[in-house]
Amino acid sequence: MNRRFLIIMIFFVSIGCAQTADDKAVGSQLPNSLRGLLIEEMQAIATSMDVIFRAIIAGEHDQVAQQAQAIHDSFIMAQKMTDEDSEILEKTLSAAFIERDEAFHHLSEHLAEAARKKDLSLQIKLYQEMESACIACHQNHALDRFPNLKSISVNH
Ligand code: HEC
Repeated sequence: MNRRFLIIMIFFVSIGCAQTADDKAVGSQLPNSLRGLLIEEMQAIATSMDVIFRAIIAGEHDQVAQQAQAIHDSFIMAQKMTDEDSEILEKTLSAAFIERDEAFHHLSEHLAEAARKKDLSLQIKLYQEMESACIACHQNHALDRFPNLKSISVNH
């Protein structure tokens, strides 16, 4: 490896590390009003996940569909945000965070579809995938709120 290449490598690795370190605590980088909206959205999602769990184990497809759709549509942040808020979010949130958020909302859409088709095993599979998505995002972007996730190794 020649020297110039090595220096470039070190440069990129250090940028990478800096970004990851910041990114692990998205909440505390947001102004209070936006963090409040994020927390509100998270609490609504957590409530829906509880309701969905009870509905899945009871075979209540309609309820699963309704709640999963609610998660999908639950961009409380998007609904209540001003243009200025969106600008701040754009500056604060990394591409990786946005990708995870989108993937998560896609999963909830799939779950709603599986419930409408009354496909119970697919509902169970997607519910588990959603749980993994919660943990993955919290571990990668919310370590200040969930410090216990720091040392837990999960495949994602
Ligand atoms: C795309 C990222 C992302 C996904 C996906 C995600 N979360 Fe979160 N969640 C966060 C962040 C960031 C915080 C920390 C906010 C803060 O620091 O105040 C958080 C915080 C929370 C909180 C704590 C709210 C409080 O009262 O302080 C709960 C509960 C929660 N999430 C539930 C969930 C559940 C349940 C799922 C999956 C079904 C989920 N989250 C998926 C990013 C995510």
